[in-house]
Amino acid sequence: MSGHNAVPSVRPPTHEGLDVRAIRRDFPILDQTIHGKPLIYLDNAATTQKPLAVLDAIDHYYRRDCSNVHRGVHDLSGRATAAYESARGKLRRFIGAAEDREIILVRGATEAINLVAWSYGRRVVGPGDQIIVTTMEHHSNIVPWQMVCEESGAQLRVVPVNDAGELCMAEYEKMLGRHTRIVAVTHQSNALGTINPIKEITALAHRQGAVVVADGAQAVAHQAVDVRDLDVDFYALSGHKMYGPTGIGVLYGKADLLEKMSPYQGGGDMILSVTFEKTIYNELPFKFEAGTPNVAGTIGLGAAVDYLHRLGLERIGTHERDLLDHGTRMLQEIPGVRLIGTAAHKAGVMSFVVEGIHPHDIGTILDGEGIAVRTGHHCSQPVMQRYGVAATVRASLAAYNTREEIDALGAGLRKVIEVLG
Ligand code: ALA
Repeated sequence: MSGHNAVPSVRPPTHEGLDVRAIRRDFPILDQTIHGKPLIYLDNAATTQKPLAVLDAIDHYYRRDCSNVHRGVHDLSGRATAAYESARGKLRRFIGAAEDREIILVRGATEAINLVAWSYGRRVVGPGDQIIVTTMEHHSNIVPWQMVCEESGAQLRVVPVNDAGELCMAEYEKMLGRHTRIVAVTHQSNALGTINPIKEITALAHRQGAVVVADGAQAVAHQAVDVRDLDVDFYALSGHKMYGPTGIGVLYGKADLLEKMSPYQGGGDMILSVTFEKTIYNELPFKFEAGTPNVAGTIGLGAAVDYLHRLGLERIGTHERDLLDHGTRMLQEIPGVRLIGTAAHKAGVMSFVVEGIHPHDIGTILDGEGIAVRTGHHCSQPVMQRYGVAATVRASLAAYNTREEIDALGAGLRKVIEVLG
């Protein structure tokens, strides 16, 4: 493994597009065979692979800097704290937040949304109030709100989607009212690939005094995100879906809202002082980071942000759109394939079913060809119900995927249909 300070292997390409061959060299995991075939990894919406720069940053922390943060006067702790807080700053700049204290380091998007549900939702939502979600939400942006509704007596409203997988904005507008407290919506659907108009959704919600919680887990590795431009109140992301480690993510929240919220968990580091009579909580962001945090994960995520900057989100988006168009055309030409999610504004997710063949059987045969796709309901059962299917096959893209891999998926599918169709 190269050293922590090694020159990054990916430099911005001199031409417009991504240098995908160079990028692939940054991901050692891609260089292997599965059942004797070269690995084709198309399950990036579940988790992306990690570049050497991320592996090196984690390795460096554990080999050289391993220590707890915010607690020690010794050198190692100083280094670990500096690296940890520097990663927070990178994440702040990455999503365009105003201040580091608005970046809460959590376990992932799921924890981020639960934090808002428990520390904000339960405080402001009461009987007769409404929380709006959409049909295309991941379970992590449905269940916490159902729990808040159950406890508070509030009502959960659901914005429908059309046949293409786009939100029915007219229905959303009708649903909004003075009883709406929270609008929880995904920026990019993991099951359909739809990119939602978060800025418009937020502006409409704000007119009614509701706050917006956007689930950005699927968005941030595929498009540039600026939370201040979107004007969202909360934004959740997961490190492992953006080339970073598992077990680390971010809750962005506007400082004035976070200031008013109570801590979600109690413990070390989230306090200024403790007596048996009274505990005074720490300031932001530490108030929400009880216990020893995921130091290595945070540092690794900081390296992932650097890596994304080097590739350039615009270039990644263009490359993935090209693959998506290529893959969509290819799938449409295969008899019996039905695409689930054909929104005009969508990202690199191809969800589909094949007439008469169970998605799990397709996934298993594709695995035999070295092709990794996800099959199932993708933690989005309501959206499956909307399209009358129990499960889909999902191929999801990342910067290191190629047209050749998409063609191999097509060939694999034709083989599946030949065997089982
Ligand atoms: N939420 C992840 C997915 O869509 C796990 O696959």
